Amino acid sequence: MGAAIIDGKALGIEIEKGLSERIRFLSEREVTPHLAVIIVGDDPASHVYVRNKERACERVGIASTRIDLASDVNQEDLISAVQKLNSDESVHGILVQSPLPNGIDEIAVIEAIEPTKDVDGFHPSNLGRIVMGDRNGLIPCTPSAVMEILRHSGLELGGKRAVVIGRSRIVGMPLSILLAQKGADSTVTIAHSKTKSLEEICREADILIAAVGRPEMVKSSWIKPGSTVIDVGINRINDDSRSSGTRLVGDVEDGAKEIAGIITPVPGGVGPMTIAMLMSNTVLAAEKGH
Ligand code: GUN
Repeated sequence: MGAAIIDGKALGIEIEKGLSERIRFLSEREVTPHLAVIIVGDDPASHVYVRNKERACERVGIASTRIDLASDVNQEDLISAVQKLNSDESVHGILVQSPLPNGIDEIAVIEAIEPTKDVDGFHPSNLGRIVMGDRNGLIPCTPSAVMEILRHSGLELGGKRAVVIGRSRIVGMPLSILLAQKGADSTVTIAHSKTKSLEEICREADILIAAVGRPEMVKSSWIKPGSTVIDVGINRINDDSRSSGTRLVGDVEDGAKEIAGIITPVPGGVGPMTIAMLMSNTVLAAEKGH
């Protein structure tokens, strides 16, 4: 029997619908949640991501402003643009799309964002709150999406063996902490490029999260039968059989769906849920700001 496949798109729409009541409550107080996105340069993938975020804002009734800056913008001017949004009371969420051009210190830019408006949850203040078990911060959207998918699937996490492949500061690391913290209570292994015996470690995982950004790196034979597999990877690979010449694949081999108990597809799994969590963070920021 194949795995139950989580429909991240449908779940994302459900979450967005759940926000509409809160947005209505705010609008009765003459507040419209407002997300400002800064995009630097003309990287096509970044423009697609930003457009998807703008479309989600339109769907749920969040105002959005997009600030396009030239790829040769200097760091000082970029930080000034962030500071202007910090002091604009009509703006509740600020997101600076990454990657940023070479020569710009991404951390300095993130640190310039007012933490209560940091809807990406990348500011040290928000990441630090996760470590402290403080729920008053804004949680990065992808870890939050994964936790929501796990919650929705009704899986009991307590005492389960979770393996997170990838230790990035915005996905693997915060997600590992969320999985281990009180209430979730899973036992977490963080695997990375220096991990030895990765296959054996994966085979013990009740919950396997792949967040490495390497196409189909996790083989079907590594999956524990009946386990839950969350594929965070979105990798574009060449495929001559398609008119586009490319195809999206995850970090997990497609055949894993024959072995796992629950699995997220790529595309249509974690991706749309991440955008829904960005909408959720923006509404939360608007509620807290008023
Ligand atoms: N680039 C790719 N994904 C993201 C994201 O979630 N936030 C930002 N700021 N940039 C990104």
